[in-house]
Amino acid sequence: MCGIVGAVAKRNITPILLQGLKRLEYRGYDSCGVALHVDGMLQRSRSTARVAELEAQVEKSGLSGFTGIAHTRWATHGAPASHNAHPHFSRERIALVHNGIIENHDELRAELKAAGYEFESQTDTEVIAHLVDQMYTGDLFETVQQAVKRLHGAYAIAVFCRDEPHRVVGARQGSPLIVGVGDGENFLASDAMALAGITDQIIYLEEGDVVDLQLQRCWIVDSDGKPADRPVRTVHAHSGAAELGPYRHYMQKEIFEQPRAIGDTLEGVTGIMPELFGDKAYDIFKKIDSVLILACGTSYYAGLTAKYWLESIAQIPVNVEIASEYRYRDSVPNPKALVVTISQSGETADTLAALKHARSMDMTNTLTICNVATSAMVRECALAYITRAGVEVGVASTKAFTTQLAALFLLTLTLAQVRGRLSEEQEATCLKAMRHLPVAISSVLALEPQIIAWAEEFARKENALFLGRGMHYPIALEGALKLKEISYIHAEAYPAGELKHGPLALVTEEMPVVTVAPNDALIEKLKSNMQEVRARGGQLYVFADADSKIASSEGLHVIRMPEHYGKLSPILHVIPLQLLAYHTALARGTDVDKPRNLAKSVTVE
Ligand code: F6R
Repeated sequence: MCGIVGAVAKRNITPILLQGLKRLEYRGYDSCGVALHVDGMLQRSRSTARVAELEAQVEKSGLSGFTGIAHTRWATHGAPASHNAHPHFSRERIALVHNGIIENHDELRAELKAAGYEFESQTDTEVIAHLVDQMYTGDLFETVQQAVKRLHGAYAIAVFCRDEPHRVVGARQGSPLIVGVGDGENFLASDAMALAGITDQIIYLEEGDVVDLQLQRCWIVDSDGKPADRPVRTVHAHSGAAELGPYRHYMQKEIFEQPRAIGDTLEGVTGIMPELFGDKAYDIFKKIDSVLILACGTSYYAGLTAKYWLESIAQIPVNVEIASEYRYRDSVPNPKALVVTISQSGETADTLAALKHARSMDMTNTLTICNVATSAMVRECALAYITRAGVEVGVASTKAFTTQLAALFLLTLTLAQVRGRLSEEQEATCLKAMRHLPVAISSVLALEPQIIAWAEEFARKENALFLGRGMHYPIALEGALKLKEISYIHAEAYPAGELKHGPLALVTEEMPVVTVAPNDALIEKLKSNMQEVRARGGQLYVFADADSKIASSEGLHVIRMPEHYGKLSPILHVIPLQLLAYHTALARGTDVDKPRNLAKSVTVE
């Protein structure tokens, strides 16, 4: 989702701004732009193409300067078009970029129009630019502090003024913004990765902060205008544009990185102990009586899978809630619940808001399972387990999901232990199985050629059904999500027992039905559901382990999973579904790593 970079320096910052935008590309965007202070004037370049095109445009025009801002936009208000791309100008005096959504933009627009401001875009961002211009006192820092008080909603902004050539002001509320501290130069960005190689001295702005960046000054005030002392951290951010190596896409690379990612996530786990989740974990785990999981999208499906584990192994009641629903729902708070947020980015606006909502109802036992150690989610939760998937560039989550599952299984064992429901023998068996996961995943990845053959069939379809039962139902949901988001094939997932309650009406010879069929306690029930599909001519594509005793026949295609993996089986069964989605998308020629309309880090509501 939208990315911001800003800089004040004594050297030409154009390459830094463009490089920063490239590193933020993975978040998803549909237009981009850059503005610089040039000889007492504001100049900009904008594009609805990729950052590389913007770069060529900038090179051609010779745009360069010492103070400036840049942006990748993911359209919310107004179509992806040049005139809606940021930076927005007001009266050739103020230049501004914004990430987030301003809820009272209509009201402010009417007011500014009445004051004579003309709008050239449909964006809520242009409203902020004009507002800053209207309130300008001759001191941009002071002006922005006053202007943001008029904004309702979420924002991270970076702004500079024609009349103050060596100054960029930033502000955040509900959307991420960091400061990069350099030597006689300072920077702003949506995340530390944008500044990799420029500075590793990072300040994470907090909600309501406004920052004044000049060559030798980085001054922060909080929402009350009081000086705020925020720590400078050394952050070794890797460039998101990690090498592709032998792979065609980041998604493929990230699927194949899963043995390493799981290995790293579980590295150092020599035994089950609450301290893995933080110093205060034992005290918190001891007093909780239930678990409330909050997450979105793929992370929500990780939570749904964990519910099966937590209830059966740790025997603790679990609720899993979609964060965007929970934050607005009247629910019954339970201060004894452990609130677990799951997030790859740690910056998802809905999940952060749901966490805040839970905390406002006295639910303060909070834990996050997160892939970004420096994210807002980690900073806001009492406990954390950092998955070590590494930077995920592909918009469709793959290695983030399986590492979340690994961390959630560890949480399950830990709660089981604290609650006296894990014998030493069970602990040893489970740890052994977890350590074997990288090898087991590698053998599933070897199924790729068989999956490619299926993908060629799927590429010609417009609909697909995914079935699973028990803890493999969330895996069916995740398989359907993967297929729809990158191949644009309409896909639905059902717990197989629900088929006859409605979706069976959709089944014809044209309908491929992907079935997740490990040899677990529900296998015979699942086989009956498969019969229901075959009887209506539906084509079954089944991932089954050897013990499932399902053989290929007319209309029944089987890929044999290398081994049955007991409770950890969801982690293995999702991998062929990721590969199926990837190769189907490849065959359909879609933009696999940057699917249309989607963003990597969803920092708006
Ligand atoms: C799907 C996908 C999304 C994310 C969701 C939550 O492939 O990636 O559904 O899972 O936007 O994002 P995080 O985990 O960053 O909170």
